[in-house]
Amino acid sequence: MATAMSANVFFWIIPGQRTVMAQMKAGQPVDPVHGQRAKQRSVHNTYFTLPVLVAMLSNHYGWLYSGPNNWVTLVAIMLAGALIRHSFVARHQALVHGRRVPWEYAAVGTVVLLGMVVALKPAPSPVGAAAGVAVAGAQAQPVTFADVQAVMQQRCVMCHNAQVATKNVALHEPALVVAQAQNIYQQTVVLKAMPMNNSTQITEEERLLVKRWFEAGAPGPGR
Ligand code: HEC
Repeated sequence: MATAMSANVFFWIIPGQRTVMAQMKAGQPVDPVHGQRAKQRSVHNTYFTLPVLVAMLSNHYGWLYSGPNNWVTLVAIMLAGALIRHSFVARHQALVHGRRVPWEYAAVGTVVLLGMVVALKPAPSPVGAAAGVAVAGAQAQPVTFADVQAVMQQRCVMCHNAQVATKNVALHEPALVVAQAQNIYQQTVVLKAMPMNNSTQITEEERLLVKRWFEAGAPGPGR
């Protein structure tokens, strides 16, 4: 979206302006099509503004993009953003021409957002049922702390250690891993936000391992 917006400016709006300037300087009649095209692209960009902001910030909010129908979420947010933006545009026009400000668009956009709040409501937490799952997990192959520590060493420690403790999280020692269990589970299993951009290429099996370890009560070394 941001690329399309930039392209609108660099390939249509600015070249159009240059052409018009050149025509004026040369004393030629100005072709209105350049202004019309620039205006059209500028309108597109206006409606993209709010959706692109949400999309750019969304990586901080796992519940926005980690659900099964994440594309529906994106489309609904874009729709709501465009509707709300349209209210701003229409308000400006209405004030210039002395007409009533049409707030309906913003109202519908807000209703779409409220609908999403309801639709994206979290399911009852699996963490709350951890005790029950621990019993079931014990029947499967138990996860040892050594397994989890191996994953941490390979996938996390390069950004979370004594020298580089990104966001104040260090995971280079067993006690640190145990102390951060809840946080590790949340970032690696629930949100899948870590490893950052999966730069260390953690596998789904390894995420599952972290999940089972946490659900079994996050045992420390020697257990
Ligand atoms: C390439 C570097 C990198 C790797 C690899 C990495 N992280 Fe991170 N981690 C970060 C950055 C950057 C942040 C801060 C993110 C932010 O503020 O949005 C962070 C934040 C965190 C946080 C704190 C989140 C919060 O908001 O409180 C935890 C917990 C975490 N990482 C755990 C892990 C775990 C577990 C792994 C391995 C599975 C891992 N990280 C791998 C870079 C990395």
